[in-house]
Amino acid sequence: MALARTRILLADWLDAGRVVEGAADLVYADPPFNTGVIKRAPPRGSRRGRDVDARYADAFGSASDFVAWLRPRVEATLPVLKPTGLLALHLDWRTSHRARVMLDELLGEDRFVNHLIWSYGLGGSSPRRFARKHDDILLYCLDPKTYWLDPPRVPATSNRLRGKTKKMTDVLDIPAINNMAAERTGYPTQKPLALLDVLVRSCCPPGGQVLDPCCGSGTTLAAAVLAGRSAIGLDINPRAIEIAEQRLRGLRG
Ligand SMILES: C[S@@+](CC[C@H](N)C(=O)[O-])C[C@H]1O[C@@H](n2cnc3c(N)ncnc32)[C@H](O)[C@@H]1O
Repeated sequence: MALARTRILLADWLDAGRVVEGAADLVYADPPFNTGVIKRAPPRGSRRGRDVDARYADAFGSASDFVAWLRPRVEATLPVLKPTGLLALHLDWRTSHRARVMLDELLGEDRFVNHLIWSYGLGGSSPRRFARKHDDILLYCLDPKTYWLDPPRVPATSNRLRGKTKKMTDVLDIPAINNMAAERTGYPTQKPLALLDVLVRSCCPPGGQVLDPCCGSGTTLAAAVLAGRSAIGLDINPRAIEIAEQRLRGLRG
């Protein structure tokens, strides 16, 4: 696809080293979460979900099976990450604990930067547990001395700092996309643009390049384009590629 500074490729994440040109400042990966089901478009009544026939398999077996799938894909990403770059891996309660151990082994514990919590609030809950209302984004660097990071600033709330700003914490309080939201493409598990805007602006320098090896509906690519970063997206689902391309054409229009 020939959108300025953006490329979208039908490819397995495993082939990132072969298909990605140049080097990335940020790799943001939002893979399947191993929910054990086929992920489908949002339920009836949503603004756009009804007409979008998009689905992908999200069943890998045990958590160990999932990590065995994930590890070589993360490894395939490392050669295309700049020495000053960051890797952000987006998972949830099912596997984030296992992935963190895997990343510690692969990169070294001293490469850990943050365990970001994306707190959202939408969706159901069970009477048998506290409501599960967050995802985990594990942030690692290649070089603890030189990685680029510019955490966003938010208005300070204390009286002492009234009128000033402070660094955003590692809990990102950003609503999930509701069914009627204009940004909804109908692709299952689409993440909010506001979340990717924070990650792209804070983890990729202006003019830098972002790689999303599981780009789905192209949220990361859209956030990158809007923030003046170039972007490469991969996905193995042809429908995801179509939706992401259409979305970026819409942005250009
Ligand atoms: C959670 S969704 C990504 C959603 C995306 N962040 C968005 O906002 O639309 C996970 C994506 O990973 C893709 N995927 C699954 N296995 C893959 C693989 N081996 N290589 C590349 N993409 C893969 C799926 O097709 C799906 O689009």
